[in-house]
Amino acid sequence: MRDLFSDILMHDETLFADESLLDYDYVPEEMPERDAEITEIAESIKPLFSERKAGNLFIFGNPGVGKTASVNFVFNELRKTGGDIIPIYINCWNNQTTHTIALELARIAGLLYPPKGVPTEEIVKSALAKLKEKKGLVICLDEVDRLKDADILYLLINELSNAGLILITNHAEWKEYIEPRLASRLNLRNLEFKDYTEKEMYEILSRRAKMALRPGVIDSEMIKMIASGAGSDVRKGMALLIETARLAEKDASKKILKKHVEEAMSKLKDKVMLELSDEEKKVYDAIKENNGAVSGKIYEVYLENGGKLSMRSFRRYVKSLEKLGIIIAEQTGEGFQGKSRRLWVKNGS
Ligand SMILES: Nc1ncnc2c1ncn2[C@@H]1O[C@H](COP(=O)(O)OP(=O)(O)OP(=O)(O)O)[C@@H](O)[C@H]1O
Ligand SMILES: [Mg+2]
Repeated sequence: MRDLFSDILMHDETLFADESLLDYDYVPEEMPERDAEITEIAESIKPLFSERKAGNLFIFGNPGVGKTASVNFVFNELRKTGGDIIPIYINCWNNQTTHTIALELARIAGLLYPPKGVPTEEIVKSALAKLKEKKGLVICLDEVDRLKDADILYLLINELSNAGLILITNHAEWKEYIEPRLASRLNLRNLEFKDYTEKEMYEILSRRAKMALRPGVIDSEMIKMIASGAGSDVRKGMALLIETARLAEKDASKKILKKHVEEAMSKLKDKVMLELSDEEKKVYDAIKENNGAVSGKIYEVYLENGGKLSMRSFRRYVKSLEKLGIIIAEQTGEGFQGKSRRLWVKNGS
């Protein structure tokens, strides 16, 4: 007889095989979509093994495209080589001043300093001297645009004979603010992390779902839906995976169904909406009031509603709403150089 209740999840059952595999800071075992970038990072470090100068990298790209994960992937491999080259990872979001970075370097070197009282330069010098007892080191400053000043770069550049520097940011234009004298000494090589295509996103999420969820819980159609909702941000894709699986569990369903994916997407959208700045919200509302109108018209409405941005900044905001996945823009082929665009809020909501 057909088992009528086999699709029901028992109260002590879970759909997750290992939920920790969906953590944001989990470094994947393989990242084939970033093969070229990972190779380039490794190549920039290689000269250190033969005591030659490393290349310095400037890595940029949109949120959730694997910048941090790729560098950590290379650093993990580096650790396996026997410890001649020390990888140092510092996130500038948590360490925004030269002094806190100096203290962090000291901590990694195993030196203890009081938070105040010792000059920054002295701390950096001693920390690096200790760290450089090995053959070489690579320092990654992630989210480097968060730095309050560039002094740390000046201090590091003087010590870079057997060290490499990797700077990561979402904002490619940050590099333009580096003083020419420093820029020429840093001699940064650009490494852009382009957005993932929908197919790549599908591959990444499939791999992760296979490990993190129990067999048969999610099928490829659902992963495709999630991949298209995630845009190019893997973090968003993983948040959707977790949320859909939780919703299915709550429903006592052994499988993730379309309605779970849809609900997870609308929940995520609510969250994004809540996090919009006032100005972003104004731009969004103007689009919503004129769903499908050309951007010039929407800009007029935005001004009538009391908006203060210039046309240029307005366009920048539209781009960022597009990246957040809550509006859609389509080229009309009309207007100046055929560049006029029609704008919609997603799902007409
Ligand atoms: N090609 C990939 N294969 C497997 N997992 C990936 C891949 N790319 C990204 N990820 C995963 O997606 C998440 C986000 O990646 P990551 O933190 O590297 O993004 P990022 O580019 O540094 O974003 P941000 O600019 O916001 O810091 C991580 O959990 C990472 O493991
Ligand atoms: Mg990152």
